[in-house]
Amino acid sequence: MSNIIIFGAPGSGKGTQSELIIEKYNLRHISTGEVLRDHIARKTELGIVADSYCSRGQLIPDDLMIEILAHTIDNDPLIATRGLILDGFPRTIPQARELNQLFAVRGMKVDYVIGLEVPEDELIQRLLKRGQESGRADDNLETINKRLEVYHNQTLPLRDYYIKEGKYNAIQATGSVNEIFDRIVDVIDA
Ligand code: AP5
Ligand code: MG
Repeated sequence: MSNIIIFGAPGSGKGTQSELIIEKYNLRHISTGEVLRDHIARKTELGIVADSYCSRGQLIPDDLMIEILAHTIDNDPLIATRGLILDGFPRTIPQARELNQLFAVRGMKVDYVIGLEVPEDELIQRLLKRGQESGRADDNLETINKRLEVYHNQTLPLRDYYIKEGKYNAIQATGSVNEIFDRIVDVIDA
C-alpha cells in the first residue's frame, strides 16, 4: 500500500496517467482540481469561492485547500487500506508541510513522488487542444499562461523539496500515453 504524489505542470498528464495507475494498482485517487470543478458545477458555497480563483488561474488559499483535502480523505475509508494517488496536491511548500502533518495523524506518509516533465510549448498545445475539444473553462490562452506562471513561482519549488527528501522520480512525459505509463510502471515496480 503506497501513497503517491503525481506532480507536474498544467497539462503534464497528471489526470491521464492517474487513471491508468489506479486501474493497474487499485489505488484510490484524489484530484483536487476535480474536487473543485465538481463544487463549481454544483454551485456550492465552496464552488463559488473556488471559481473566483480557478477562472483566473490562481491557487485556492492554502488553509481552505488543506481543509478540503482532509475532508476528502476522511470521506474515503478505502484510502487507509488501498493507498492513494494524489493529483494536484500539494502545490505549495506550506501545503507539502501540512500534508505531512495531515498524513502523520492518520498513520500515513508520502512514499514517493512521480514528476511528469514536459516542455512548456507542448503543455500549451495540449491544453489549447483540450480547450477546443472539451471546453474546460480554464483552458484558454490567457488562463493557461497564468496557470503556468503560478506553477513556476509557487509549485515548481516543490520539485527541489522532494528531491532533497529523496522522494522525487522524474519521468520524461512526452511521447504516447502508453510509453509514459510504461516509464511510470518501471518506477512504481522498482
Ligand atoms: P488541476 O485540475 O489540478 O489542473 P492543472 O494542474 O492545471 O492540470 P490539468 O488538469 O490541466 O492537467 P493534467 O496534468 O491533469 O493533464 P491531463 O492528464 O488532463 O487544477 C485546476 C485549478 O484548481 C488550479 O488552477 C487551481 O485554481 C485549483 N487547484 C487545484 N489544486 C489546488 C491546490 N492543491 N491548491 C490550490 N489550488 C488548487 O492532460 C492534459 C491534456 O493533454 C488532456 O487533453 C490529455 O488528453 C492530453 N494528454 C495527456 N497526455 C498526453 C500525451 N502523452 N500526448 C498528448 N496529449 C496528452
Ligand atoms: Mg488534471
